[in-house]
Amino acid sequence: MSSSFVRVELKQSHAILTINREDKLNALSSSLLEELHDVIESLAKQKGLFALIITGAGQKAFVAGADIAEMKEMSPREAKRFAQKGHALCRAIEKLPFPAIAAVNGYALGGGCELALACDFIYASTNAKFGQPELKLGLIPGFGATFRLAERVGIAKARELIYTGATIDAEEAFRIGLVNKLFAPETLLQGAEESARAIAQVGPQALALAKRTLRKVQRKAITEAIPIEIKAFAKCFESEESKEGMSAFLEKRKARFTESLGDRTSESSP
Ligand code: COA
Repeated sequence: MSSSFVRVELKQSHAILTINREDKLNALSSSLLEELHDVIESLAKQKGLFALIITGAGQKAFVAGADIAEMKEMSPREAKRFAQKGHALCRAIEKLPFPAIAAVNGYALGGGCELALACDFIYASTNAKFGQPELKLGLIPGFGATFRLAERVGIAKARELIYTGATIDAEEAFRIGLVNKLFAPETLLQGAEESARAIAQVGPQALALAKRTLRKVQRKAITEAIPIEIKAFAKCFESEESKEGMSAFLEKRKARFTESLGDRTSESSP
């Protein structure tokens, strides 16, 4: 079940999935999104599992976002496909018949924060950092933060985090309800596994039904929300602003955003 960028360890009643692209802080490329989706689909069919723990390889990052180098070259059509892949992965995690626990061991930025948000709950080490920095790249979140972040932290905090692109530390993430529990870095996985073992004591059918019901009750509007977000994300790739934002990151300099890079009053905006 493991693949080049995804490691899976099967335990008695839970599995640990590690995103393994440490040199790029586990950034989500298209192929990594596909690999993750395939692994999640296989785990969904695995008998005897009560929980899935998702974490990142190394000490520094859970996932530092979608792959900016890859996105920089995308046309709007390719960006749409990319966002669809991210959404498909997040939906597959939400549809697992058992809970997913994000064990956030460092940066969870952009698509990384969105991946954590797709999990049932988030445990974090005290050195974790969270944020949706897309606007700093001239983009908007494309893997679900426009609705999943508000579900966790309320619309006011979600707006603040998305509009400022601010990075918050683990304490702050815990305080606003984004993170369920905080752990010292060396005890994070152990804490997540203890929780997985506690979940393994409940009735498996009731667990699957509870997860499905909570999702359905909370998300009556999700089918409408997803295409709106995907359209807006893809639209960013029509502008010079996103090219400037992503180039600046890759060239390790501050972005120079000016009004001339894109028309924010455009009627074709979503
Ligand atoms: N996409 C592609 N590559 C990424 C990446 C991403 N989202 N995040 C980090 N990387 C790469 C860097 O380009 C660098 O590659 P290099 O060694 O070939 O230059 C490597 O991972 C290490 O990152 P670096 O930036 O050197 O580490 P740092 O400790 O100085 O900073 C971060 C860490 C997380 C603050 C910084 O990498 C960052 O801001 N990443 C982008 C976060 C982001 O905007 N995510 C949302 C994308 S939509």
